[in-house]
Amino acid sequence: MKVLVMNGSPRKDRGATGGLLKHFIKGMEEAGAEVDLLYSKGLELGDCRGCFNCWTSTPGKCIQDDEMAAVLSRIADADLVILATPVYVDGMTGSLKTLLDRSIPLLHGAFELRDDHCRHALREGVKAGKIALLSVSGFTEMDNFDPLIAHVKAISKNMNREYVGALLRPYAWIIEPALKQGAQLDHIYEATKQAGYQLISNGKMEEATLTTIAAEILPRDEVVKLMQQNYGEK
Ligand SMILES: Cc1cc2nc3c(=O)[nH]c(=O)nc-3n(C[C@H](O)[C@H](O)[C@H](O)COP(=O)(O)O)c2cc1C
Repeated sequence: MKVLVMNGSPRKDRGATGGLLKHFIKGMEEAGAEVDLLYSKGLELGDCRGCFNCWTSTPGKCIQDDEMAAVLSRIADADLVILATPVYVDGMTGSLKTLLDRSIPLLHGAFELRDDHCRHALREGVKAGKIALLSVSGFTEMDNFDPLIAHVKAISKNMNREYVGALLRPYAWIIEPALKQGAQLDHIYEATKQAGYQLISNGKMEEATLTTIAAEILPRDEVVKLMQQNYGEK
């Protein structure tokens, strides 16, 4: 199975998203997946200009000559797309959203009715595979992921891909510093690896594994105190 992982964190592999992804990818590879990893940050990509030339005068091609052409073929070829992003202002990061905006050349311009809904048909050669979300947040409550989950579910319908779940880790920024101080948190990374393995071998991640990944590391009051120490006015 070909998997395309798009890491939307500007901190790339040094961030909390990248920290979890390392283990998640290892699990997917152990289950036999062929994993292609891209970082949206640093790609030479202009914003979508909204000209619709990719649907009219240059069907399937964007008129901007930048790195998106190569990214389009990587998306088209993926059986499974993993959208990996920290929560930024209650959604995905800007660079990942820009990349997704620029993916509309993969679709025909004309509407069709699918599931009693107006959608665009996929162009020939574009796989209708699966999509999953991996996300981390700064805040502690799981409902901070709700807008992003809703967004990714909507994207999956419009990309004609099956949504197969979300791996979510609140206040993930605490993991690396806590590990350095000797905290026993290896089970989170181990469960993240298992979730990657499960997704490839069973088509979904098990609830118990996702619960382990999201479980409390510190009581919320302690997290608030820590943030006050780190970011409070001196
Ligand atoms: C511009 C910006 C906006 C953010 N917005 C939110 C937010 O709306 N909700 C939240 O829980 N965390 C928010 N965060 C915190 C990040 O999700 C958190 O720091 C995350 O661990 C960063 O992941 P990374 O290290 O992979 O980049 C925001 C961070 C930044 C820099």
